[in-house]
Amino acid sequence: MRVLVIGNGGREHALVWKCKQSPKVTEIFCAPGNGGIEEIATCVNINPTDQEELLQFAKQMDIDLTIVGPEAPLTEGIVDLFEEHQLSIFGPGKKGAMIEGSKHFAKELMKKYQIPTADFQTFSDSEEAIAYVREKGAPIVIKADGLAAGKGVVVAHTVEEAEEAIYQAMEERVFGEAGSRIVIEEFLEGQEISLMAFVDHHSFQPMVISQDHKPVFDGDQGPNTGGMGAYSPVPQIPDSVVQEAIDRILNPVIQAFQKEQIRYRGVLYAGLMITKQGPKVIEFNARFGDPETQVILPRLETDMIDIIQAVLENRLQEQEIHWKNEAAVCVVLTAEGYPRDYRTGDPITGIPEPTSDQIVFHAGTKKFEQQIRTNGGRVLGVTALGQNLVEARDRAYQCVKKISFSGSHYRTDIAAKALNASSIKR
Ligand code: AMP
Ligand code: GLY
Repeated sequence: MRVLVIGNGGREHALVWKCKQSPKVTEIFCAPGNGGIEEIATCVNINPTDQEELLQFAKQMDIDLTIVGPEAPLTEGIVDLFEEHQLSIFGPGKKGAMIEGSKHFAKELMKKYQIPTADFQTFSDSEEAIAYVREKGAPIVIKADGLAAGKGVVVAHTVEEAEEAIYQAMEERVFGEAGSRIVIEEFLEGQEISLMAFVDHHSFQPMVISQDHKPVFDGDQGPNTGGMGAYSPVPQIPDSVVQEAIDRILNPVIQAFQKEQIRYRGVLYAGLMITKQGPKVIEFNARFGDPETQVILPRLETDMIDIIQAVLENRLQEQEIHWKNEAAVCVVLTAEGYPRDYRTGDPITGIPEPTSDQIVFHAGTKKFEQQIRTNGGRVLGVTALGQNLVEARDRAYQCVKKISFSGSHYRTDIAAKALNASSIKR
């Protein structure tokens, strides 16, 4: 089987790495890929949103399966296009991807089907938005309606901060058109988890849960990023809470898709806050999470291609999915300045070869004449497995210390919430 993976991040490196383990896969292409992916697959220089060129490539190269990593091609309808041409592609169509592409759409769907989420209101006028935050007070959350690479959300701790965020999004348009409409949300308190599921037209199967670390600095300080690291399992969250999230969130949203005639297929990602009143939705994504995928796929025992084929043939219900008992931790190394303007082109040294319990997934890297250099904000995702989280974390940080590039930054507290929460070494 010839596989094409679309995207260029750490998530796509993990997807390519996992595909490579399948005996069914003979050749892997990645568009456009990165410096790490090119070591294990053939990278083709096509932009993930250049649908026509991707379609031509898939046809010319007899691609049997395309896996879409990022959200932009999904919300722009690449799945619909490939399916019109009878090409096999993993991901939801344009309608389903709206769950991520428009926060307003997602919130209205949750309201209609009584799926627990933060109270909210949508605004297209900045003065009305400012009047609303003055009335509600802080803390309060300001979100650009459209896609903003995980950075369109400001958790404002004061009314002034909220007003500034509204101004930035709606007047300065720092997120472009994504900020022409904003959603203002009630601030939710608790621990966050990422609950992803494989979904076909008839059923779904949840994956094991993980926890991301959004803010750029230790102790959840500083602005939000695409994600600074992740770990799985999340032992401080009881199984009963995960079950509640499956019953009260995943199940109803999948049913809502069916009632709304949205034929959703692929991965559905629920970003949840575990509040005192139970799990509530922070956001839905229409794809694998990044960096969550970098800890989930190393724990997946089953051949991912078997699962994807089961989804595409709508027989997911019959597909067994097994997970390793081991823990996984991923520490993201970023370029100086990220998530704001950052530098690229710095040489990276010391990346160790992968072993059975440790792998460095590349994100923003590029190979120039045999030298791997930084080429993005999130540069590398150093991932390790262990018998428990302590072991996985220690292995990941040992590996992080071997790698160097000018201006590199990483959080030193990935998985600390789990380790502080329990004296049991899990
Ligand atoms: P999102 O892009 O919607 O996932 O938001 C990015 C991050 O902002 C989340 O992972 C949370 O850490 C934080 N956040 C978003 N919405 C809320 C909320 N209603 N209450 C508290 N924190 C939030
Ligand atoms: N890690 C958050 C996301 O993938 O959106």
